[in-house]
Amino acid sequence: MWGFGETAEKRLWLETVTLRKLFPQPGPLPCRNLCEELSESLSVAVIARTDVVFQQCISPACSATFSVEEALTACPACGNLLDVSYDWNRLRPPTSFEVFERKWMRRSDPLATSGVWRFHELLPFAPRESVVTIGEGQTLLAASDGVGSFIGMKPGRLYLQYEGLNPSGSFKDNGMSAAFTHARMIGARRAACASTGNTSASLAVYCAVTRLMRGIIFIGSGKISYGKLSQALDYGALTIQIAGDFDDAMARVKEVSGKLGIYLVNSVNPFRLEGQKTIMYRVLESLGWEVPDWIVVPGGNLGNSSAFGKAFAELRKLGLIDRVPRLAVINAAGANTLYELYHNRGLRWQGGRADLSPACHYYDELDRQKKRADTIASAIEINRPVNLNKCLRALEVCDGVVREVSEQEILDAKAQVGAGGLGCEPASAASVAGAKQLVAEGVIGRDERVVCILTGHQLKDPTATVAYHTTDQSLFNEVLGSRGVSRASFANRAVSVGNRLDEIVQAIDLYG
Ligand code: F0G
Repeated sequence: MWGFGETAEKRLWLETVTLRKLFPQPGPLPCRNLCEELSESLSVAVIARTDVVFQQCISPACSATFSVEEALTACPACGNLLDVSYDWNRLRPPTSFEVFERKWMRRSDPLATSGVWRFHELLPFAPRESVVTIGEGQTLLAASDGVGSFIGMKPGRLYLQYEGLNPSGSFKDNGMSAAFTHARMIGARRAACASTGNTSASLAVYCAVTRLMRGIIFIGSGKISYGKLSQALDYGALTIQIAGDFDDAMARVKEVSGKLGIYLVNSVNPFRLEGQKTIMYRVLESLGWEVPDWIVVPGGNLGNSSAFGKAFAELRKLGLIDRVPRLAVINAAGANTLYELYHNRGLRWQGGRADLSPACHYYDELDRQKKRADTIASAIEINRPVNLNKCLRALEVCDGVVREVSEQEILDAKAQVGAGGLGCEPASAASVAGAKQLVAEGVIGRDERVVCILTGHQLKDPTATVAYHTTDQSLFNEVLGSRGVSRASFANRAVSVGNRLDEIVQAIDLYG
């Protein structure tokens, strides 16, 4: 039964008929983002509700609503992405940030300690007793003048948000905690994801700690870092390695989860993104609730950028902030779909009336040219970002910009982040490399307040780090030279000595 009456029922029927006319042939529909899920989901029985919390299609022309009891990854009516939406008038959300500050004192309460659930009132889709937390989100916003000066900022203006400090080593735990909570609410027993590493480690650790679900991860062959694979294996997840890359694994996991009724935890799951909103709440919290001028984030599947846009739109709507920061999303040049579509081809959200045909054409071009995503920043080696539409919306909300950065820029930025402490994986350094470009262009002012999101831990992709710092030219050439990296300007080279006391002492005297 549809909860929004005859008009919506008619609209669904009309849309179905229209799409069937457009795409009469059996099998997957031509535009993957919009239509693939639709072709699979037309038979899904969906209950819509006018409740205080519901799932809602992001397309304003559709706006169909569905119960939070459903596990959906696309709107069954039109195939677009879904939001978790709230009737804030009936939920009575906080009128000031003080509510969250008071929770700091309750260190014995796991929901107050969690950096996600401390903000439960801003993602109120689950009752307290359903919440799943393993202590995620206890991360750090640190001012970094070293990295700030590298990118051309004045002192005291650049901040790094270290999400690598999460239990599994990446920002994914923010979203996984929320997805697990939803999965628990609806009684799911198995959960799956496609992953280049971080999502799989996160899913696996939540399965291992909570014992609530069996985790199944899909990885492209040779496309996962050993550190991350070892986490998934250690935590006991079922690991399926398929011949293909992340985009292939993503397409397959969607099919398989639909077929077998397995709960999907990739960021097409709207509950995942509810958890990722909290990264922005913590940034604000650390800045004394002041809104920075810029948030700079790497773009892969575009889950974070989408979640950040939603977080700020909601906070503004609730009157908790009076302006939103600008958003910069940074692609690796070897996986630059968003940059190509947004920056070069002018694709925009346009209040939800976007003509997405440039995206369909671009994906066709990629297929025709057999072009695959290719970057050392393995976590963002993605050519078909599943959250493209939501990200376009976020870019509109936050007056955003998109840039692409080279492998050289990524690795130099990563070395600078490491030299400044804590460190990050290559994908995360794309944010710093992108900020550097934007400062050089004058888009970001040297004295604006900028927060770069470091999405994952330094120990991911160590081969790239070691190759950057190596004295072994053949290793450098093999790992980095082959990708167009020609120099390691910030290398910290190991000093080789014989196993002799005098040589060791001499080396320390010389370099120490
Ligand atoms: N940074 C890191 C460290 C990631 O692991 C990912 C995604 C991204 C950025 C891109 O995220 O969706 O916000 O654009 N990693 C996925 C994975 C692909 O499998 O772990 P987004």
